[in-house]
Amino acid sequence: MPDLTELHQAWKTEDDTRQFAARLAHQLSTLTPEDSLFIELHGDLGAGKTTFVRHLLQAMGVAGRIKSPTYAIVETYDDIKNALYQPLNLWHCDFYRFNDPLEWEEAGFRDIFASKGIKLAEWPEKAAAELPVADIAMIIVANMDESRAITVKAQTPAGQHLLAKLQ
Ligand SMILES: Nc1ncnc2c1ncn2[C@@H]1O[C@H](COP(=O)(O)OP(=O)(O)O)[C@@H](O)[C@H]1O
Ligand SMILES: [Mg+2]
Repeated sequence: MPDLTELHQAWKTEDDTRQFAARLAHQLSTLTPEDSLFIELHGDLGAGKTTFVRHLLQAMGVAGRIKSPTYAIVETYDDIKNALYQPLNLWHCDFYRFNDPLEWEEAGFRDIFASKGIKLAEWPEKAAAELPVADIAMIIVANMDESRAITVKAQTPAGQHLLAKLQ
């Protein structure tokens, strides 16, 4: 039986990154406004976490410049639509600069992670005590060239369902 909990990918160039992001975007477009999905992105600085999210959001129809949330910690998107043209909420977080657990409450992260919608998080390890279990964990490892080694792990039934569609 195929292992439905882990998927390995090799992205030779950023174009492969873009193509996988487009495949994921296609699957995310089947979510409804009642669904929730949390994807965490692991990898060193420069691995390509933000680049992947940019390609994903572009494929989901976000127009214009997609900011890295490095300073703001979170960027909120409310102009994303699913395949039925229903609005989906999406939050792109980067917890690199997150170091005060009080911020979790005050900056509204508790509310975000209790809301329906899609949550994407870079540096989840910096807020590990607060974050729920992610449906999908992506681990990006940069090689010396443009290529990247990717592991996509399903950690919940919703994550397994999604991963099966990406195999
Ligand atoms: N295959 C690839 N996938 C993603 N990014 C790549 C790839 N090849 C080169 N890059 C470059 O690597 C850099 C990754 O930076 P960034 O996405 O900000 O990393 P992170 O968010 O993980 O710190 C970008 O300049 C991007 O253009
Ligand atoms: Mg980043």
